[in-house]
Formats: sequence, structure tokens, C-alpha cells
Amino acid sequence: MENMCRRIEEHLLSLHSLVNNVKDIGYATLCSNRRIPITAYNQAYRVNVTESEAQKLITDVIGYYKSMGVNPCFVVSPATRPSTFANSLLDAGFKLVLEEDAMVHEGESKNFRGVPDVNVVSSDGSLLDVWTDVNMKGFGIPVVLRDAFLDMFEKAIQYKGTKSYLGYFQGKPAGVCGLVSFNNVGGIFSVGTAPEYRNKGVATALLQKAIADSLTMGNSLLYLITTKGSDAERLYTSLGFQVAYTHRRYQLQLQKQ
Ligand SMILES: CC(C)(COP(=O)(O)OP(=O)(O)OC[C@H]1O[C@@H](n2cnc3c(N)ncnc32)[C@H](O)[C@@H]1OP(=O)(O)O)[C@@H](O)C(=O)NCCC(=O)NCCS
Repeated sequence: MENMCRRIEEHLLSLHSLVNNVKDIGYATLCSNRRIPITAYNQAYRVNVTESEAQKLITDVIGYYKSMGVNPCFVVSPATRPSTFANSLLDAGFKLVLEEDAMVHEGESKNFRGVPDVNVVSSDGSLLDVWTDVNMKGFGIPVVLRDAFLDMFEKAIQYKGTKSYLGYFQGKPAGVCGLVSFNNVGGIFSVGTAPEYRNKGVATALLQKAIADSLTMGNSLLYLITTKGSDAERLYTSLGFQVAYTHRRYQLQLQKQ
């Protein structure tokens, strides 16, 4: 499990390096995106320190994110060292805010049938505006962040290992997802369906396409990350994804003035 976790975290590092700012401080990786104040884009992860160094790392990371005006957040996974690191975070005033499952898909894209009324296309730069708008609707992202998201997705699609998909329901843009591959590891990101098109099989069709393409590309591992116990997790399970491990987000609880 730890090995799988390291491969996935390595993939996340490659992905973040593509679209966000990444600072590798040797014993942790600090990812940030000042324009997108969401924890998934502003997190410290791949922590590997001794117990005696943990406190200094936490202090340094708090300083780093606070200097950017961002609330510090750590991701603790089965590969995090020391294994007691979560306790150090709690002692330092952090709180567990989210549990996420890394899910992997192994084997064939079996029994996949077309979904009625849904058509999936591989989108390119010419569809980036539509793709971004559907993504933002799917995730309920405020319009004020549109330019920042557009820039980020533009960087992602310039990489040759990226495939982005746009799903149409009865001819209308309805859902999106992306597949990004590095070193034979594929990661599925940004699975989102606009609220008015949900429960019609749009995400199912998008994921079927991404799974099939990942196999065709020769990826030996395909994963995605989702909120533990979410509706999305149920959908991914029905498509053959299985939970590999859980990681936890800890965020500093800022003192009220
Ligand atoms: C999670 C999400 C992407 C699912 O998108 P969706 O297009 O509604 O997904 P689908 O329609 O393919 O599947 C949803 C459910 O509808 C069912 N369904 C599929 N086709 C259907 C059809 N034609 N008629 C009725 N139900 C159908 C699926 O079996 C699935 O059932 P389940 O919830 O019991 O597993 C969507 O809810 C969303 O965008 N959520 C917000 C963003 C988010 O959380 N994304 C996931 C990030 S990891």
C-alpha cells in the first residue's frame, strides 16, 4: 500500500508542477496557487521527517503559507513519516477537515456499454472555454475564479500526456473530466457534471472513455482521489475502482481576533 501511495504522490507532484507552484524542501513538498484559495491547490504533502524535526517543519510550513495569505494545510497519507505526524499537527492547532480515498482501477474496461443520449468527445484547446465553464458549474466554483482556472487548465492541456473529455447530453455540454499520465501512471481529475444534467449517465460515459484510453496508452496504474463516503465514490466503485488507501487533510484553525 505504501508503495502505491508513493507512486500516486509522485504523480500528484508531477501534476502540481505542471499547473501550480511547487517548492520541494527535501522533506516535504509545498504546493501553492495564490489565485485559487482552495486547499487542494495549497497543501503540504510528501512529508518525510524524523519525529524531532516534525515541529520545525510545521512551523516553517505555517510561515510559508501565511506569508501568502493562505490557510496552511497538510495531507497525511500512509507514506507520511513519522507515522505520528498527525498527532504533531493536532498539537500545533491543526484540525482534521477532510478524509479522501485514493481509488485505483485495475484490469479491463469490461461491460462498458454506451450511455443513451450521451456523447463524449476528446476536447482540445478550441473547447477549453466550454470545458472550463462546465467544470466550474459541476464543482460550484465562483465565477470570480474563472480566469485562474482557465489558466490552470490551459497549462494542463499543453502537456502531451493530458487528455480532456467533454460529455454532451442531448447535444448540450454537460460534464467533463481529465486524464493525465506520467511514467505509466494515469490520474483522473476534475470529474464534474453540471447540476441540471446529473444522474443521466454523463460522468459514467466520461469515466468509461478515460478508463479505456488509460489502458490503450499502456498505463499500469490508474487512480483518482475522492471524498470518502461521497456519491462520487459510489459511482467510481460501480465502475471498478477500489479504495487503495485514505489520506487526510489537516488545516490550521486560525485564532479568532
Ligand atoms: C459525482 C458526479 C460527477 C456524478 O456525475 P453524474 O453525471 O450525475 O453521474 P452519472 O449520472 O454517471 O451517475 C450518477 C448516478 O446516476 C446513475 N445513472 C446513470 N445513468 C443513469 C440514467 N440514464 N438514469 C438514471 N440514473 C442513471 C448512476 O448509476 C449513478 O448511480 P449511483 O449514484 O447510485 O452510483 C456529479 O454528481 C458532480 O459533478 N458532483 C460535484 C462534483 C464532484 O463531486 N465531483 C467528483 C469529484 S471526485
